[in-house]
Amino acid sequence: MKYSLGIGLTNNCNLLCPHCYRNKDKISNVSLKDIKTLFRYFPINSVGMGTGENILNPEFDEILEYLSKQDIKLSIASNGLTLTSLCEEKLAFFNDVEVSVDFPTERGQDSFRGSGNWSLIHQAIERCKDLGINMSLLATMMSINYQYMKDLVSLARSFDLNLRVAVYQAVFSDSYRLSYDQFWQGFKDLLSTGELISCSEPVVRAALGLNPVYSPCGHKSIRINPLGQISPCVYYNGTHTTHSLHTINDLSDLGEDILNTYYFMLSREIPSEAKDCPCQGGCFSRRALDGNLNAHDFYCPWARGEEMKLEYHQAVETDLVRSENNCNIIVK
Ligand SMILES: C[S@@+](CC[C@H](N)C(=O)[O-])C[C@H]1O[C@@H](n2cnc3c(N)ncnc32)[C@H](O)[C@@H]1O
Ligand code: SF4
Ligand code: SF4
Repeated sequence: MKYSLGIGLTNNCNLLCPHCYRNKDKISNVSLKDIKTLFRYFPINSVGMGTGENILNPEFDEILEYLSKQDIKLSIASNGLTLTSLCEEKLAFFNDVEVSVDFPTERGQDSFRGSGNWSLIHQAIERCKDLGINMSLLATMMSINYQYMKDLVSLARSFDLNLRVAVYQAVFSDSYRLSYDQFWQGFKDLLSTGELISCSEPVVRAALGLNPVYSPCGHKSIRINPLGQISPCVYYNGTHTTHSLHTINDLSDLGEDILNTYYFMLSREIPSEAKDCPCQGGCFSRRALDGNLNAHDFYCPWARGEEMKLEYHQAVETDLVRSENNCNIIVK
């Protein structure tokens, strides 16, 4: 089996978005040496960059050169900075790029992400489209933008791009957390307007009648944060329990067996309360961050005695790489 690696090369960033899960107190960077170690111990078929604005890693050019020589699919999420400042030759190393947009208007986007970001993401879209690079829009569904999902589908369509949506995770605060009703309204709106390309958000998969219900986390997907910690999920760094995460330095002792350590086992485990439920526990990080690992997913309808069957139109194309990375829904 080959793994899908999600790497945060740095937690440094030019923006300070209020919902962001990156650690803003101390900047850390993954080194080229670390990347080489990861490739020594894991068979890898895709690498996706996230967490901070990756071009701000001091070894970014060298790391990109190295990755471009591996037999992998390379992707990156950006706020526009990396996609507008990287030279064309290096941008072409990416098979797939994403630019983050959380609001369908300049006013909304700039008041959330900072003045000038709407313009920057438009420059990034134009540049990548001109260069013929595969691109999508990436949105985080939150309590302050769930009502704009239909507009975000239209925005993506206006550029002839797909829209990938991931749900806000309450890593540092509940401020942007979707209520139960907001979560399902957001997904109903997305699916009433967009055609479904893929979905790996577990509780939504259950409501779509897709099997298996679980997300790729802890199975095929491995996440490396800027501290070099290895986790089944980007949103979870183990701070809520006494177990600490293993790091790249532990690979010489553990190798691939790192996937049989505490957090990876936990991420794959179906919680006892949800064994017979269609949600199958849903998202491990959500349960862990809520301090309720044994429960159903917070958004599980069946635990509330409700039924949830989402109607959808399946698009002809699929996007297996993105849905192997973490939990999200992709529509067009
Ligand atoms: C952390 S950023 C890193 C790449 C780049 N700086 C950007 O903004 O696209 C990757 C994606 O994670 C999203 N994100 C940030 N904090 C989040 C959170 N707490 N829950 C879910 N997604 C989050 C961002 O909105 C962005 O789309
Ligand atoms: S641009 Fe990306 S990494 Fe930077 S603060 Fe915003 S979401 Fe976080
Ligand atoms: S479903 Fe998996 S990848 Fe998605 S947030 Fe939860 S633990 Fe992370």
